Amino acid sequence: AEARLGNGPLAGKRVLVTSGPTHEPIDPVRYIANRSSGAQGTAIARALSGLGAEVIFVTGPADVPPPEGVEVVRVGSAREMLTAVEAALPTDAAIFAAAVADWRVKSASDKKLKKTKGGMPALEFEENPDILATVSKLAEGRPGLVVGFAAETDEVIENATSKRQRKGCDWILANDVSPATGIMGGQENAVTLITAEGAEEWPRMTKAQVADRLAQKVADALE
Ligand code: CTP
Ligand code: CA
Repeated sequence: AEARLGNGPLAGKRVLVTSGPTHEPIDPVRYIANRSSGAQGTAIARALSGLGAEVIFVTGPADVPPPEGVEVVRVGSAREMLTAVEAALPTDAAIFAAAVADWRVKSASDKKLKKTKGGMPALEFEENPDILATVSKLAEGRPGLVVGFAAETDEVIENATSKRQRKGCDWILANDVSPATGIMGGQENAVTLITAEGAEEWPRMTKAQVADRLAQKVADALE
């Protein structure tokens, strides 16, 4: 990693990457979360670092270890992730690959919930902050390039296109995570890059190749 510092098309650029799931506590031993290995976000951070970027990698509890040569910030919940992201700004670009839990349990118990208490717990939820939308809409200190993901199971391109507009990010990488694609938890990904100019469908390739291609696009955009 040392040898790469100062070299490459992203030398001198600071890039934030979020990755992995978030864990929203129910009680000290239980949580709710999205399925996410962290593989795609980790590959993106590695690819950006490989092109010379200074990478701040904000990660939830992922299955895969973070790449070497990046600044790792470990978080648990969505609210912790937002705080860490805000602390990492300003950056030249920000890539939001985390599978953030949309909801958290309204009042997590500080004691373990017991079956013997009778009946099942009625969990009440409230919405988590939307980290991507928050950063995209910053009036001051918005990264020059903000990239999100849209994990969809149906009407992938339509949903991702409106998601890009609603959240205010520059690019969105749409991917079909229907169980039949086998993408969740696998080594491969099939994405469509959606920008203001339109949609560009990338062939199915490894997550490392998706990361390399995205990192190169980021480098071109920041040039
Ligand atoms: N995201 C985020 N903070 C959240 C939810 C999502 O930063 N609280 C980011 C993800 O990292 C991703 C993008 O927003 O880059 C889209 O996430 P997705 O779950 O597909 O979108 P949502 O707006 O949550 O819509 P839904 O889950 O209802 O499809
Ligand atoms: Ca979501």
